[in-house]
Amino acid sequence: MLEVFSLSKTYAGGTKALDTINLEMRKGEITFLTGHSGSGKSTLLKIISGEESCSDGRVLFQGQCLTTMAARQWPKMRRKMGIISQDFKLLMHQNIRENISIPLEVVNTPRRIMRRRVDDMLEQVNLGAHAKKLPSQLSAGQRQRVVIARALINNPLIVLADEPTGHLDPKEGADIARLIEDMHQKGATILVATHDHQWPERIGQRPIYLHEGRILDNPVMRVG
Ligand SMILES: Nc1ncnc2c1ncn2[C@@H]1O[C@H](COP(=O)(O)OP(=O)(O)OP(=O)(O)O)[C@@H](O)[C@H]1O
Ligand SMILES: [Mg+2]
Repeated sequence: MLEVFSLSKTYAGGTKALDTINLEMRKGEITFLTGHSGSGKSTLLKIISGEESCSDGRVLFQGQCLTTMAARQWPKMRRKMGIISQDFKLLMHQNIRENISIPLEVVNTPRRIMRRRVDDMLEQVNLGAHAKKLPSQLSAGQRQRVVIARALINNPLIVLADEPTGHLDPKEGADIARLIEDMHQKGATILVATHDHQWPERIGQRPIYLHEGRILDNPVMRVG
């Protein structure tokens, strides 16, 4: 479903954030990216979601090359992706229900269907009681759940989650981790960047370790 070939990224200032990364994901897989701060996790997710360009290499999604795709095709492509970004990017003057509805509105979902889908999603992320609040009236963990709900509302083909449990206390972090594990159990394809090594280990997954923009093959040398 997702193939990354020899992907490199050097930012304008000269930082080499990614160096010949190769990665493959099949439908229904969950893959964890881990590594020190600055190792390139967010950069990789941002290139896959089209937020950043790459310097070299290719990304294929469902056989389509994303790295050479025309800019005008990106909005449609992005609708197939559920993006959970490190900075929440919530609309601060719109309430929780409105924030979660955005992906359905952009595809002109009929009101009645939208209402039902959003109600279901609010229940799934346990925010039913907070639908009318503004993001500023929620805790960090609750805000993270809004971002997750917004990413999932359109049944994306792939979920890209950048440190979904970062900035949360252990209990909130554990709740979010469980929510993401549930999504995987239900068949979602998920690529997660996390600093928490124990999370992939707990569910029997071997994470991909990034170190200075390269994948570390030898787990003994692992960092992060
Ligand atoms: N927009 C940018 N312009 C220039 N350099 C950048 C930019 N974004 C990231 N970098 C640099 O690229 C490298 C990789 O950054 P990236 O954000 O991908 O790391 P990360 O693994 O996600 O870190 P963290 O765990 O702190 O989120 C770092 O050295 C960072 O300083
Ligand atoms: Mg990051």
